[in-house]
Amino acid sequence: MRTSEAINIGSKILRNKNIVSHKIDAEIILSHILKTSREKLLINEQDISHTDLKRFKKIISRRLKKEPIAYILNKKEFRSKDFYVVKNSLIPRPETELLIDPIIKKFKEKRLYFLDVGTGTGCIMLSILNELNNSRGLGIDICNKAISVAKVNLKTMNLNRRASLKCRSIDTIYNKKFDLVVSNPPYVVKREINQLSEDIKKFEPQKALDGGHDGLDVIRKVIYKSKSILKLNGILALEIGSGQNNSVSTILRLNGFREIKKIKDYKDNVRCIFSTLI
Ligand SMILES: C[S@@+](CC[C@H](N)C(=O)[O-])C[C@H]1O[C@@H](n2cnc3c(N)ncnc32)[C@H](O)[C@@H]1O
Repeated sequence: MRTSEAINIGSKILRNKNIVSHKIDAEIILSHILKTSREKLLINEQDISHTDLKRFKKIISRRLKKEPIAYILNKKEFRSKDFYVVKNSLIPRPETELLIDPIIKKFKEKRLYFLDVGTGTGCIMLSILNELNNSRGLGIDICNKAISVAKVNLKTMNLNRRASLKCRSIDTIYNKKFDLVVSNPPYVVKREINQLSEDIKKFEPQKALDGGHDGLDVIRKVIYKSKSILKLNGILALEIGSGQNNSVSTILRLNGFREIKKIKDYKDNVRCIFSTLI
């Protein structure tokens, strides 16, 4: 069978299950199997071996059950770098990239010691370390398996010397002072997890999604703890859920923080808040 034919068949199977990204998914899966880029696959029509076709069908059937492509391929791109990902850690999201630029700008040429709360794959921590040579970071997560995944990424990116990863909750961080605390905490309202798309609710870790009864449980903990672990003029950089802007602003104000920057996503929702202690 030719590549274009296989893509059409795979795409049709996925479309029948209402998978919106059916075409691109079929292309990504086939390029993964043939170990080529999607671009090359589309330009260079070729024959597929029987074994590769079998593997293609097998992976299409996983996607049919709504398993995210990132978990199937065990990788996701974040700020132009591939991160290893398995189902124990949240798949890095494009909106999380919004957190990084202001941090890079603010701490360029400076020495930076930072804490990444809920590091998951380590995408935030490793992006900062990659882009700021004078930085050192500590990444923590309550999920041991997520820490193992982040360790793989840390090693692959050869950043071990400037970072450590620990399976800890934010509540247990004492006797340390950071220039920056950054976090993309779980912020989904518990009872709304059921309304998320199947790709997310069936496959992504609950611990990475569940923000408690109002979605703000972990955000509160991070803000509260940051009061005692930030250095003078230190920065707290938070990703928040759409619609949480006012509530998070209030919690920050009540804890003595002054907001210095807010960043909106392409739907015009505030998704990142940068603040400092007054
Ligand atoms: C939304 S995910 C973010 C993962 C990654 N930082 C990213 O942006 O892709 C939140 C992470 O916080 C972790 N987490 C939840 N509660 C925590 C706590 N109290 N202390 C530390 N990490 C926590 C979860 O296990 C999960 O990996």
